[in-house]
Amino acid sequence: MASEGRNLVGVDIGSSSIKVCEVKEGRKGVRSLVRFGYHPLPPETIVDGHIINSNAVVEGLEKLFHKVKRRNVAMRASGHSVIIKKITMPLMTHAELSEQITWEAEQHIPFDLAEVHIDYQVLHERGDQGQMDVLLVAAKREEISDLTNLAVEARLKPMVVDLDAFTVQNVYEQGYGIPDGQTIVLIHVGASLTTVNILADGTTAFTRDIANGGNAITEEIQRQLSIGREEAEAYKCGGDGRGIVPREVPEIIGQVVEQLAGEVQRSLDFFLATSGEGGLSNIYVSGGTAQLRGLLSAIQERSRVPVEALDPLRVAPPDPKTVDPASLTGRASQAVVAMGLALRKERERNG
Ligand SMILES: Nc1ncnc2c1ncn2[C@@H]1O[C@H](COP(=O)(O)OP(=O)(O)OP(=O)(O)O)[C@@H](O)[C@H]1O
Ligand SMILES: [Mg+2]
Repeated sequence: MASEGRNLVGVDIGSSSIKVCEVKEGRKGVRSLVRFGYHPLPPETIVDGHIINSNAVVEGLEKLFHKVKRRNVAMRASGHSVIIKKITMPLMTHAELSEQITWEAEQHIPFDLAEVHIDYQVLHERGDQGQMDVLLVAAKREEISDLTNLAVEARLKPMVVDLDAFTVQNVYEQGYGIPDGQTIVLIHVGASLTTVNILADGTTAFTRDIANGGNAITEEIQRQLSIGREEAEAYKCGGDGRGIVPREVPEIIGQVVEQLAGEVQRSLDFFLATSGEGGLSNIYVSGGTAQLRGLLSAIQERSRVPVEALDPLRVAPPDPKTVDPASLTGRASQAVVAMGLALRKERERNG
């Protein structure tokens, strides 16, 4: 893929907040993070990937881009409207593949093809077996255009749309290097969605979305303590400002975290049972819910694989002249998708 020109501004519209990252690439490819923006969204702004409150999103974008000149952006498409599948096809040329892919997609994608945008990438060519592995991505046009339309309304220019799984992968590869002979698990846990992406020998070998995340923890605290959302959210994140947390809270967090870790483990077990890969080397967790250390240790305990938080600042450390380090405190794990998007360039082909 050709990648030249300036970096796009990464805009991640999540269900709980909008994150913006702007990366500058100097000579010799040295990168720095020259802007980080964060804007919380009110509850119920985006539900199951559907934008319910467009005004809140447009206002948030306008605020984040107030007096900002650079408006060419790379955006994240919600995983709720996307299907990713690894398929095996007979070996063929790229021209043949581009003709065949629609027919092939029909066999694998339960959406009406007239309503989806199909993208694909050849992962491996296995000449000896006359086969190749192809990563097939199908995204609902309407949900993508809903999102890009909001950006246009906020006077932004969307140039690229990408998915959580691949933006996190981009951050991992640029920050940690492409693993050789290792099997790496990337888990991104946001508010409403968890994405698992397993890389074997540097390419995607398995992806899965789990419709669960930090919201489930907040909701369980609300339910068990009969309190409001804001209060429950504050308790989950470590206190009500005075550092006071009811003693039941850690226990409730633990219960939901165990459920989530169990769902993740089922994906890992499925991968190990079906892929023929011997084992997993490392697990990296990102997304706002990665702030819960208990989640990392619950995943590590079940999988018996070393787990750590993915650090996006390894890709591009903040430029102290323009980014207040305090603005990133406790937010780095939430910045991962926006960072991955900010690595995309103005002049590249988007599939
Ligand atoms: N310190 C913290 N402790 C626990 N949870 C936290 C903390 N900080 C943020 N979170 C949780 O992280 C989640 C937000 O993460 P993130 O910004 O990655 O989600 P999002 O991108 O808005 O949502 P999604 O991508 O799922 O639509 C919320 O559920 C929030 O409660
Ligand atoms: Mg998110």
